[in-house]
Amino acid sequence: MLSYRHGFHAGNHADVLKHGVCAFVARYMAQKDAPAFFLDTHAGAGLYDLESPEAEKTGEYRDGIARLLPHAADAPELLRGYLALVRSFNPDGRLSTYPGSPSLISAMMREQDRAVFYELHPTDEECLAKLTRGQRRVRVEKSDGIRGLIAQMPPQERRALCLNDPSYEIKTDYALITTAVTRAWKKFPGGIYIWWYPVIDRSRVHAMEIAMRAAGLRKTYRMELCMAPDTPERGMTGSGLFIVNPPFTLPDAATAALPWLAEKLGASGPVTAGWLLPE
Ligand SMILES: C[S@@+](CC[C@H](N)C(=O)[O-])C[C@H]1O[C@@H](n2cnc3c(N)ncnc32)[C@H](O)[C@@H]1O
Repeated sequence: MLSYRHGFHAGNHADVLKHGVCAFVARYMAQKDAPAFFLDTHAGAGLYDLESPEAEKTGEYRDGIARLLPHAADAPELLRGYLALVRSFNPDGRLSTYPGSPSLISAMMREQDRAVFYELHPTDEECLAKLTRGQRRVRVEKSDGIRGLIAQMPPQERRALCLNDPSYEIKTDYALITTAVTRAWKKFPGGIYIWWYPVIDRSRVHAMEIAMRAAGLRKTYRMELCMAPDTPERGMTGSGLFIVNPPFTLPDAATAALPWLAEKLGASGPVTAGWLLPE
């Protein structure tokens, strides 16, 4: 039984990091005319009303995207494309709609690109299916995205961005997603895999790193943005991304963007970027 609903969290500090990096990587991929494949293994509903009772209940977007948009003109390169996209979903200038990862991907896809979005929650899957209806190059799957990740590799396009964004409702999700990404990477070592993790209990992040090393994964960059220092007592204090095969432009863009992001969001925990696993 899935209880997590992204509508409560859309546009929070974790989303701005994840979506900023996704948009940067998708933009980089669009520099080549060759078709690209986009896979979102945990897609969510796709579009979020920030004036809904869910978003208002937590108000998380107020400490995330709402703090960044007023400064979009001075934003670092990493976030510029993403912030422009969020603006395009709010054409009257008032922040009331937040695009989830499938909306961002759809908005960046070209005629020759293709996408598959997996979502298991029936309500969110229905929203996503409605949202993408008529998009010829997009398919929504109401099935397990972790199995889907392995099944979809290697894609016919031979260029892929795979976003893996589980909700980690179940503790075994940490090991499951680590195994799935490494298996997918073994089937398609050239793909770009962006894989989100929460910082709730640091030992779980360490366990993922150990498993990645043991599986022989290489060329993995890591970015992390924590709003507060690590503590086992307070729930999620921050989040991070493992990025397998990042564009060569990402490390410079990431190190320039993170201090800006931390300052605008008032982050006081670990804020880091660097290579976790070398080539
Ligand atoms: C963090 S949310 C996704 C947010 C979305 N990626 C975004 O950035 O806008 C995680 C989603 O995964 C869905 N989910 C959980 N387990 C899943 C699975 N095994 N396969 C596909 N979707 C799953 C949940 O219902 C939830 O909507």
